[in-house]
Amino acid sequence: MDQLFLTLLSTSILLLTSSAAAESTLTASATLGGNQTLVSPGDIFRLGLFPAVNRTRWFLGIWFTVSPDAVVWVANRDRPLLTQSAAVIAVNGSRGGGLVLLDATASNAVVWSSSSAAATAAQQAQLLDTGNLVVRDKEGNVVWQSFEHPTNTFLPGIRVGKDLRTGADWSLSSWRAADDPSPGDYRYVMDTSGAPELHVWSRGRRTYRTGPWNGVRFSGIPEMTTFEDMFEFQFTGADGASGAGEVSYQFRNRDGSPMSRVLLNESGVMQRMVWDRSAASWSNFWSGPRDQCDTYGRCGAFGVCNVVDATVCGCIRGFAPKSPEEWYMRNTSGGCGRKTPLQCGGDGFYLLRGVKLPETHGCAVDAGATLEECRRRCLSDCNCTAYSGADIRGAGSGCIQWFGELMDTRFVDGGQDLYVRLAESDLDAIKNTKKFVVVIALVITGFVLLLLSLGFLIWMKARRGKKVRVLDETGDFIAECPTYPFEIIRAATNGFSEGNKIGEGGFGFVYKGRLPDGQEVAVKKLSKENTVQGLKEFKNEVDLIAKLQHRNLVRLLGFCIHCTERLLVYEYMSNKSLDTFIFNKNEGRRATLGWKTRMNIILGVARGLLYLHEDSRHTIIHRDLKAANVLLDGDMVAKISDFGIARRFSSSGADQKDCTITDRVVGTLGYMSPEYAMDGKLSFMQDVYSFGVLLLEIISGKRNQGTSNLIAHTWRLWEEGRNTDLLEPAIRGECTGGELEQATTCIQVGLLCVQESPDQRPPMADVIHMLSREKALGQPRRPVMSTVATTYGHSGRLTITDLEAR
Ligand SMILES: *[C@@H]1O[C@H](CO)[C@@H](O)[C@H](O)[C@H]1NC(C)=O
Ligand SMILES: *[C@@H]1O[C@H](CO)[C@@H](O)[C@H](O)[C@H]1NC(C)=O
Ligand SMILES: *[C@@H]1O[C@H](CO)[C@@H](O)[C@H](O)[C@H]1NC(C)=O
Ligand SMILES: *[C@@H]1O[C@H](CO)[C@@H](O)[C@H](O)[C@H]1NC(C)=O
Ligand SMILES: *[C@@H]1O[C@H](CO)[C@@H](O)[C@H](O)[C@H]1NC(C)=O
Ligand SMILES: *[C@@H]1O[C@H](CO)[C@@H](O)[C@H](O)[C@H]1NC(C)=O
Repeated sequence: MDQLFLTLLSTSILLLTSSAAAESTLTASATLGGNQTLVSPGDIFRLGLFPAVNRTRWFLGIWFTVSPDAVVWVANRDRPLLTQSAAVIAVNGSRGGGLVLLDATASNAVVWSSSSAAATAAQQAQLLDTGNLVVRDKEGNVVWQSFEHPTNTFLPGIRVGKDLRTGADWSLSSWRAADDPSPGDYRYVMDTSGAPELHVWSRGRRTYRTGPWNGVRFSGIPEMTTFEDMFEFQFTGADGASGAGEVSYQFRNRDGSPMSRVLLNESGVMQRMVWDRSAASWSNFWSGPRDQCDTYGRCGAFGVCNVVDATVCGCIRGFAPKSPEEWYMRNTSGGCGRKTPLQCGGDGFYLLRGVKLPETHGCAVDAGATLEECRRRCLSDCNCTAYSGADIRGAGSGCIQWFGELMDTRFVDGGQDLYVRLAESDLDAIKNTKKFVVVIALVITGFVLLLLSLGFLIWMKARRGKKVRVLDETGDFIAECPTYPFEIIRAATNGFSEGNKIGEGGFGFVYKGRLPDGQEVAVKKLSKENTVQGLKEFKNEVDLIAKLQHRNLVRLLGFCIHCTERLLVYEYMSNKSLDTFIFNKNEGRRATLGWKTRMNIILGVARGLLYLHEDSRHTIIHRDLKAANVLLDGDMVAKISDFGIARRFSSSGADQKDCTITDRVVGTLGYMSPEYAMDGKLSFMQDVYSFGVLLLEIISGKRNQGTSNLIAHTWRLWEEGRNTDLLEPAIRGECTGGELEQATTCIQVGLLCVQESPDQRPPMADVIHMLSREKALGQPRRPVMSTVATTYGHSGRLTITDLEAR
């Protein structure tokens, strides 16, 4: 009896005095003061008022008892109290419904309420050991629970997702700042419009996505499988279990695993933390986004991100950067575009392995379909751009179909297979790439053999003291072309018909062709008349360009020798050569190359030239840079072509300017530097000179030729400070102030490139830096005023033999 009395007494004393009442339940008749807390039965969580914003605001929240800083839920995020003593926590409290937070200093105004439809029935609120605060009615039914209204923290048992019956959205939103629980910029929500996946949003934009649930884990978080000893992941609704009435994701701690929480922090990062009991602190277990490839849309549409690649962003095979210039400047957000448009009828799929699936918003998902069915469906729908399996369990099942751009694809460990729709010709090009490498190896081996046999023949010639017709015999030696049999090329160009002819020059003719696989090519047929020169040029060109790989150099796809025919097969440049634009009589045609495009072409040519001079394995002087030798692809990317007279040049690391050789003069008037044209002194500065002329031509739309001496004209305008008068009239009106300034820079660089003395011309590396204004520009002196063209009084192209005759 005494004992019972003592127990009762001590309990009541405890109740009366305790500020941290050891109660987990608040009944309708009781209230809690601002300095009192509810404590979950196992004292794992507490509910009460906590200060924030430098202790100037008070919030009702739930935190871990062992770690009061780890607040897992906040009630009055939008309406903080100014003092702790003002707070009264009650159930119903005769005003509002459910659990309420009242402001005692404002005649018990309701600051926050759990108000729900069944609020009036609320009888008690209880804080559970899970961290869930539940409000119950008379019958003990839960009428409201904090787990259905999470704030920035995701605890075991909290669901993120959507309730399809009520439309309720279970999402997280970050705090405004580490010390301010009011709602911040970031939200963590389930996107259910495709294959369900979780997105982090900030101010109306996605910043990160987990990738769709694939039956085992989120597509973009392969490391989830490694946490399975600690956590159990549950996903509801992904596999067509529509009966569940919800799409949700939650995790649970496995027995014996430490306490854990997942937080959407103030920088929009999902942090999974576990409690380290021995250190009495939280340790960061995982966080996402993990790297720059997780940043939403890092590589734009149809881009694919690869963190271990130095350039990070690439395009999916069959696609190319939409704006190569922006990509070059590492701005990849513009993404990639198809090389060849889809034909609907004859497309196929390219298998991209090991990726986080692209964003599935707007995708069609069918958990019942097989991969084979999926392929068929995608093929039969002209708008379908890709497909993949939906569930990786077992042999895989389900079908996801994409209909537009593929956004936010990246490589991940243990990633999934994505089948990307491509036009047949792009697929063939991919298949041929491997073959092409082998072919190039064969070509190179062939040339080694050729050179050996040449050496042998010369040796024989010297021994016998007799003239040997070297070229004919070597011509026979490489008479077989492994890449393109002659018949194929003949068929591709309609038997080298007039209609297919797209160009001609001293070397012979160029024909447009279409290979049996649909690929468009340009076939250069070297003229038979000049077989000696032809074979030399031919060997030179194949030998050089087969080894050169650069965006701004035209690509050699293969070659062919048939009896006396020598053919070079190049990628086809749909926009032909630069001169057809800049020197066109039609003003509209000239205006199609706006300032931006012209600038990109100038930079492209400069980069191609720099590659030739310094970056390729062989340092090369092109010798014949001119507007007709700059080709433009479908995206107006400039590609330098015609290596027929290019010269390999070993500078052995010495200063380029010092490396001069004397050589046979070949080239085109108007583009030849004086020292080369007059004395045959050849150095890299010859190309710099040609580049300077070309640059001025691109800007002005005028040829440097014959009686029109563009350099002298430019210099006159420069001296008079009327630079922008040089600008092509067809585009001048459209240029902004910044562009006119850019044009002035270009003109200055152009003048520096055409200085009389080769020593005063900048090397290509400096030219590029000057064009992008990363390097100060020197003041040009009086440039070459009497061009070779005017000296000779000659106009038009000078053929090689003309010059040799001199
Ligand atoms: C809690 O607040 C009440 C009234 O606001 C006060 O009487 C009591 O002393 C406070 N207790 C503690 C431990 O601060
Ligand atoms: C926080 O409050 C203290 C004193 O109340 C003040 O000295 C301090 O400057 C405040 N800090 C900030 C960041 O406002
Ligand atoms: C809850 O409040 C309503 C009035 O808003 C009142 O009628 C009801 O009796 C209250 N219930 C409890 C349990 O206090
Ligand atoms: C959010 O989490 C990331 C990763 O743990 C961390 O680097 C960053 O500092 C955190 N941001 C804030 C505001 O705490
Ligand atoms: C990056 O490119 C996009 C379009 O491709 C453009 O809108 C954006 O302004 C560019 N950003 C920068 C920093 O240049
Ligand atoms: C493809 O998309 C276009 C435009 O979005 C639409 O008009 C057309 O109906 C779609 N075709 C199919 C087969 O879905």
